[in-house]
Amino acid sequence: MQRKILVTNALPYANGAIHLGHMLELIQTDIWVRFQKQCGHECYLVCADDTHGAPIMLSAEKEGITPEQLINRVYVEHTRDFASFHIGFDNYHTTHSDETREYAEKIYLALKANGLIEMRVIEQYFDPIKLMFLPDRFIKGECPKCGAKDQYGDSCEVCGAAYTPTDLKNAYSAVTGAKPELRSSEHYFFKLSDARCQEFLQTWTREPGRLQAEASNKMQEWLGDPASNAAAANPLTDWDISRDAPYFGFEIPDAPGKYFYVWLDAPIGYMGSFKHLCNRTGLNFDDFWGVDSTAELYHFIGKDILYFHALFFPATLKFSGHRTPTKVFAHGFLTVDGAKMSKSRGTFITAESYINTGLNPEWLRYYFAAKLNGSIEDIDLNLEDFALRVNSDLIGKYINIASRAAGFIAKRFGGALLGGDDQKFRADLPGIIEAADEIAAHFEARDTARAVRRIMALADTVNQYVDKNQPWTLAKDPAQDAQLHHVCTALINAFRLLTIYLKPVLPMLAANAETFLNVSPLQWSDAATLLPAGHTIKPYTHLMQRIDPKQIEALIAANVHSLEATVTTVAAPVPLSLEPEIAITDFTKIDLRIARIVDAQHVVGADKLIQLTLDIGEEKPRNVFAGIKSAYDPAALVGRHTVVVANLAPRKMKFGLSEGMVLAASGEDSSGLFLLSPDAGATPGMRVK
Ligand code: 2FM
Ligand code: ZN
Repeated sequence: MQRKILVTNALPYANGAIHLGHMLELIQTDIWVRFQKQCGHECYLVCADDTHGAPIMLSAEKEGITPEQLINRVYVEHTRDFASFHIGFDNYHTTHSDETREYAEKIYLALKANGLIEMRVIEQYFDPIKLMFLPDRFIKGECPKCGAKDQYGDSCEVCGAAYTPTDLKNAYSAVTGAKPELRSSEHYFFKLSDARCQEFLQTWTREPGRLQAEASNKMQEWLGDPASNAAAANPLTDWDISRDAPYFGFEIPDAPGKYFYVWLDAPIGYMGSFKHLCNRTGLNFDDFWGVDSTAELYHFIGKDILYFHALFFPATLKFSGHRTPTKVFAHGFLTVDGAKMSKSRGTFITAESYINTGLNPEWLRYYFAAKLNGSIEDIDLNLEDFALRVNSDLIGKYINIASRAAGFIAKRFGGALLGGDDQKFRADLPGIIEAADEIAAHFEARDTARAVRRIMALADTVNQYVDKNQPWTLAKDPAQDAQLHHVCTALINAFRLLTIYLKPVLPMLAANAETFLNVSPLQWSDAATLLPAGHTIKPYTHLMQRIDPKQIEALIAANVHSLEATVTTVAAPVPLSLEPEIAITDFTKIDLRIARIVDAQHVVGADKLIQLTLDIGEEKPRNVFAGIKSAYDPAALVGRHTVVVANLAPRKMKFGLSEGMVLAASGEDSSGLFLLSPDAGATPGMRVK
């Protein structure tokens, strides 16, 4: 029977690059969806960028652009990365859309009509310089427990203590460094503590298969267990779903100046994206989300956001007249070489850098598939094991089968196969046809690790068959032609079956294999048959390269620098000792100009200097010696724009005449040196004032 299935991925935030942590989930989901489609089911995968919230608003402001400009740019980057890893979204949308707004408002108003929204006045930290209420992550200070400095407002990264921002000692705003003030404000709450929500969730989270066992147990921490009368360790409290202006999001109907908290509209973004797909294709929204829908609805997420998907979202759906998810599938975190991804070690790997380094995305798809087993355990990308495994399994075992048989079929038999004798094939290569149902069950259960193990065991069987029958020896004896034809036909048929099984994991490779095999797109049901007598295959062209360990080194090197660009918050304020006050006329005496660095060279015999050739819009470039060697490699400076004091008296130095001074920032404690750059668009010679 054809199933009707809707699948979602967690929505990536629209202010950061896609990294391999995202790819783990995207690949897991894409494999599952491709498998369903290959089985002939009606299955859709939708997702969107998660665009709202204070961090996105502040990032945009920092870049001098609007939040809309920021999310539009990131949308292009994200969708480019998904396409390069062959993630087959049926729709990729944005939460900043009419569709998401429509459902966010509808759901909110329905909850309100149901008596589940309550307004309360709360006290919160406010930044008196920025004039905004601060999210917990933008308040820093000393941990109330261990005293560690520069800890976030919600938890301490040193001792692990959890607390509220008001518990921090010497709190400061991470946006401006100002001391925050407590101010009161009206907030809207979704009444999760209402008995209706509690009762519903107590049942819903326990329904068989709804959540993984570990996830379901975890949820009981908030719900308790009515069957055994166990009280919740952490009873559910009402959920604050509003934020004050300024905020980038949707204004709450009937509450001017109040916005939906990003986490209220993010999961509703699943509905918005699906609605957008319906508008494009004529699908019926209510067939999937209506209260009577019989379609299957699955959310793939990381274990860190279970709370939202297993408690908040189902409750908002339930009490606003919608159906609830069929199942929520959580996965663990990604570690690289056994540790949390780290920017300084180069293991915080972006999807873009992986592709740009020339690594094949299907290598990673295969490796993740070989590790994911449907549980919430963490997954380790061990880079050495990655190269070994891909080379030995995909090239050594699978691709090899085609390359060993194809040449003989082409040269000796005009590309044509013998009839696949089903009985004989089953006898020669036991298990290859028969494994289809078992492998399908592993894919269905998201235990791709088992599916891959089973497929590779089959590939081993085929390679043993090659070694036993030695087609290269048969080829030497014309009397053995029929046997050679038989063996190579069996190998091509085996390769085709393995391709069917690997196709959800390796869609591009499978497409190229289909071209080589000269067959239409392989469905799962095709595993029941062999190729017919006389079927011709195309000449073999190499289907996949081996991983060169040098590519892994290049990948790490490409990611080591990402640290510089990602520091988003300010450090604890220290009293500044400022120069004496000046008048504006004093300042205008300094003629600051935009300069383009035309050339940059080391200075022989100087430890600190780099010799810069600067175009400041004059006829002749200027020569400037800058004391920035500790922080910059000359080659990396060429082509950059910076700011130069253009009317500083020329200075005769040991190495030559310096005709100006470039501007750079540095701290008291010599913790780095940062050359100033103008925003894009500034050109040499422009005055800075
Ligand atoms: O944790 C995150 O990255 C969120 N942007 C996930 C949102 S998932 C869904 F609820 F929208
Ligand atoms: Zn601490």
